[in-house]
Amino acid sequence: MANPIIQVQGVNKEYGKRKNTVAALKNINIEIQKGEFIAVVGPSGCGKSTLLHVMSGLEAPTSGRVLVDSVDVTLISERDLPKVRAQKIGFVFQAFLLIEDLTAFENVQSVLWPNDEIKKERQEDMALEVLREVDMLERRDHFPRQMSGGEQQRIAIARALVNRPPILFCDEPTGNVDSKTGDAILKIVAQLNREKKMTVVLVTHNDDLTKYAKRVLKMKDGAITSDRS
Ligand SMILES: Nc1ncnc2c1ncn2[C@@H]1O[C@H](COP(=O)(O)OP(=O)(O)O)[C@@H](O)[C@H]1O
Ligand SMILES: [Mg+2]
Repeated sequence: MANPIIQVQGVNKEYGKRKNTVAALKNINIEIQKGEFIAVVGPSGCGKSTLLHVMSGLEAPTSGRVLVDSVDVTLISERDLPKVRAQKIGFVFQAFLLIEDLTAFENVQSVLWPNDEIKKERQEDMALEVLREVDMLERRDHFPRQMSGGEQQRIAIARALVNRPPILFCDEPTGNVDSKTGDAILKIVAQLNREKKMTVVLVTHNDDLTKYAKRVLKMKDGAITSDRS
């Protein structure tokens, strides 16, 4: 079998110093195969976001290894990390985190701008194509404040996908939208998983949404307590 697309090996993550130390992740071991759709669930503060940040190279673990597509992201230099992340990983946050004074189209295109290996016309096509996939093409010239939460999150998903990364991390992507909108957002993600074989790791509070995942990881107090397919 091919190498797993994500390998988390003996990962610990501590915040703070001495008496104030918080063990956010305790000896985490996970293997994720290409094309999987995994949900990560557990009570607030159990380490779900920390796990996603460590898996995506946004934060370094205190100890242990994280391999993404066979690359050890804990060993990559600060300088090279953004490029590796852009190529391999899309990240969607609960709070959308769109840039307020850029349009939908510009928000999506903005993560391609540092990339001078791709021609400008091609970059525009890439942004339009991904806006079409999340069904937001007609909103391309709208600013975030002109869109609902669900629409903003769809733009954020488009932005996460425009570089065509093989992995999408979603940290409570539906936490700021109503349940019907949340379900519509997850349908888009599930479709991308099915049709493009994109690997998806979804953190969610909403048990209803785990139905889209084929595997569910349960966490408690920084540890994985169950891993069911
Ligand atoms: N930057 C930080 N500094 C100190 N403690 C943190 C930091 N980020 C998270 N923590 C702590 O780590 C634990 C796990 O947090 P988090 O991963 O955000 O949990 P979840 O996403 O499951 O709600 C919590 O106790 C939290 O307070
Ligand atoms: Mg969290």
